Amino acid sequence: MNMRLDKLLCEMGFGSRSAVKSDIKKGCVTVNGLAVNRPETKINTEKDVVSYNGSEIKYSKYEYYMLYKPAGCVSATHDDREKTVMDYFLEIRREGFFPVGRLDKDTEGLLLITNDGGLAHSLLSPTKHVNKVYYAEIEGKVTVETVKMFEQGIDIGDDKPTLPAGLEIITSACNSKVRVTITEGRYHQIKRMFEAAGCRVTYLKRLSMGAVRLDETLNPGEYRRLNEDERSVLMQL
Ligand code: URA
Repeated sequence: MNMRLDKLLCEMGFGSRSAVKSDIKKGCVTVNGLAVNRPETKINTEKDVVSYNGSEIKYSKYEYYMLYKPAGCVSATHDDREKTVMDYFLEIRREGFFPVGRLDKDTEGLLLITNDGGLAHSLLSPTKHVNKVYYAEIEGKVTVETVKMFEQGIDIGDDKPTLPAGLEIITSACNSKVRVTITEGRYHQIKRMFEAAGCRVTYLKRLSMGAVRLDETLNPGEYRRLNEDERSVLMQL
């Protein structure tokens, strides 16, 4: 793609159009190793190497990250009172990033963050049936009956019962550990499904969305860019 140098820097979050124009004129920017001072210089984003104060800038229209969401923050871009998931992305300069879907404040685990609205729509659309897998700890005994209820769909007080969901029991006694697979993303869905089955979720962590799994080398609050394989499976949705 060809684009103006000042637009490229602006899109990548290096400041307002006037600020980046001024930086270019001051000589902060090189293209293919040569200083340029014309903001309107045309850049081939696939071939040209643009550097800002000596650091190379790789242009991409969309960017994709996974955050290991910790408990205690809300899945929103702004909130007047609560810490948000975007508070973990302070060193990312670009604007327009948002979390793909919501995890409850007390839920941990995989949250994708992007500026690609089309991808977010595909991942969240119930018609695409993208599996979301969660690990949960439950107060109460989860039984084969509960597994059947999840398989059949549960009335959780909405217009329609939930779509069939997978429930795998890891351990079951007076408290249980389970893995749950859902394809929807209704408000408090898993908590409400267990409530309807007479149990209570005490801990919930999202492990994967589609083929993208939470990188277990991340600590809560840490994030990384999606790698090439992860991006390409998302693009096939
Ligand atoms: N289901 C819930 O109940 N909470 C979440 O955060 C995600 C799924």
